[in-house]
This record gives sequence, C-alpha cells and structure tokens, in this order.
Amino acid sequence: MPADKPDQPGSPDIRIADHEFRRFRDFLYRRTGIVFGDAQRAYVERRLADRILAAGSRGFSEHFARLLVEPDELERLISAFTVNETYFYREDYQLRCLTSTLLDRITARKRRGQPIRLWSVPCSTGEEPYSIAIWLLENWPHVDSWDIEIVGSDIDVQALKTAQDGVYSERSLMRLSRPLVAKYFTALDDGRYRIDEALRGSVQFSQVNIIDQGDTGLWRDMDVIFCRNVLIYFDDMARRTAANNLYDSLTPGGYICLGHTESMSRISPLFHVCRFPEAIVYQKPGEGGHD
Ligand SMILES: C[S@@+](CC[C@H](N)C(=O)[O-])C[C@H]1O[C@@H](n2cnc3c(N)ncnc32)[C@H](O)[C@@H]1O
Repeated sequence: MPADKPDQPGSPDIRIADHEFRRFRDFLYRRTGIVFGDAQRAYVERRLADRILAAGSRGFSEHFARLLVEPDELERLISAFTVNETYFYREDYQLRCLTSTLLDRITARKRRGQPIRLWSVPCSTGEEPYSIAIWLLENWPHVDSWDIEIVGSDIDVQALKTAQDGVYSERSLMRLSRPLVAKYFTALDDGRYRIDEALRGSVQFSQVNIIDQGDTGLWRDMDVIFCRNVLIYFDDMARRTAANNLYDSLTPGGYICLGHTESMSRISPLFHVCRFPEAIVYQKPGEGGHD
C-alpha cells in the first residue's frame, strides 16, 4: 500500500491488540472495500493510533465505539486510509480514446439536447474530472454543441473538499503543458495554482462509496464512467460489488474505463471488452447489443 499521506512520528501510548486489529480491518473493509493484509499491520496501526490520539479517545475500544455514532470521525478515519494519488492528464490515452472514438459512438445514439454524462469515480482531489473537462475543450470540436455533464465522486470527503477548492501543487500539473497551465490556472503567491472558475463550475462533486448501492443508485444514465486506480485496493468480492453497482449506473451501450493495471474481464462477465487503438474499455451491452 503506497503511503501518500505523511506518517506521524508514531504513537507509542496506543496499543492495538491482535483481535482489535482484525476487528478494525474488517470494519474498514466492510465500509470501503479496501483490504489490508497482515503484512500491512504496522501501517494500519500507525494510522489508527494517530486518529485515536487526534480525536482525543483513550484507546481502541473507545474510538471504535465513537466511529459507530460519529459520522465526522468516521469520515476523517476513512480519509486517513485512502490513497489519493492522482494528477492531471493521468493515463491520457483513455482521454484520447474518449474524443477519438467513444463520443462519436455515444452522440450517434443521442438526440440533440440530451446530455452526455461523464462520471469520474473515484475522483480523489479532482484532477481527473477537471482533466476530462480540459481535454474536451482542447480536443473535441463538438464540445460547444452538446450539453456535457461531468460528475466527480469519491468516498473521501476531505479529498472532495480539495477538489471543490480547485487549488493544486506544481506536482499535480506536471503532465500539463505550460500553455495549458497558463490558460486554465492562475498562479497563487504560495506557488500553487487555482483552476479557472468556469472549469471549477463545470464539474459537480458528490460523496459516493462505490461498494454501496444506496450511493451509486443515485447516479444513473452515465455514458462513460472513469473508475481508475481504486479496484487495486479491493478484494475480488468488493471489486465485483463495485462493478455491478457501476454497471447499473451506466446507460445501455455506455462505457467504463479502468486503470491500466485493472481488467474487468477478471472481475465481471457483464461487460463487453472493446479493444480500441488507444485503449481497452468495457461496455455495458446496449438494447440492440454492443457496438
Ligand atoms: C488512487 S486514487 C484514484 C484517483 C483517480 N481515479 C486516478 O486514477 O488518478 C483512489 C481513490 O479511491 C477512493 N476510494 C477508495 N475506496 C473507495 C470507495 N469504496 N468508493 C469510492 N471511492 C473510494 C479514495 O478515496 C481515493 O481518492
């Protein structure tokens, strides 16, 4: 598990017993789908102990009981265990596939006036949905002729706050050319960059847990779902649950893009595999069969 959040020096006063560790990781798995093995025990313990101390609990039992009744602490705890690594134009071959192939197929099935719905889930701190918006503005000549809705969702409320603020470090922008940065961002005094206000307003953000049908069920008729670099943290059962939920959120004939190390063929038989020149994507069969 790569650590993309700084580790604290350690919390020597907090001890987590074997059964508490097992209880906690089962709890986290049921809530998020994220799996921690025995080999990651030290990592889990450190983060958990930090949260116990930061929240002012006296030990595991008290903190665990609080998690069940304090949604804000549960959110902070989940945020401590998510890996939010992301950056603009990550795996841009899929964005290329979107504008060279997918959107032509999608618009061929639509009436003018019907929105095109694109969902980045998980979106982490927002770089992915904003990248989709920038990519379309730069590379899709029909961008002004269609009503395009872009939604960014994540389980991590703190990541979503960053997404909504739209302020990024130089590192997040490393794959963008200087002219693109100049066009869509304003440099701030502290060395970071604020995304253009109109772009910020073009993406709607919402908290969604992809293994919770109650959450994903609120989002329907998606034409393309970008679900990249999260399933690697799940086990087979959580992957299947997420795939089934996202299948239901897709419109018939809609597409799902996974991260380059992830493959739907190993997760769910529901989707048709589409091998396009730029990328492999997975399609929910349409009413008249797949494309
Ligand atoms: C590595 S980031 C991927 C971000 C982006 N898709 C990308 O590829 O750059 C993984 C994200 O998955 C989110 N996540 C983990 N479990 C989740 C779940 N059950 N539902 C929704 N998001 C989840 C984390 O909060 C984190 O922001």
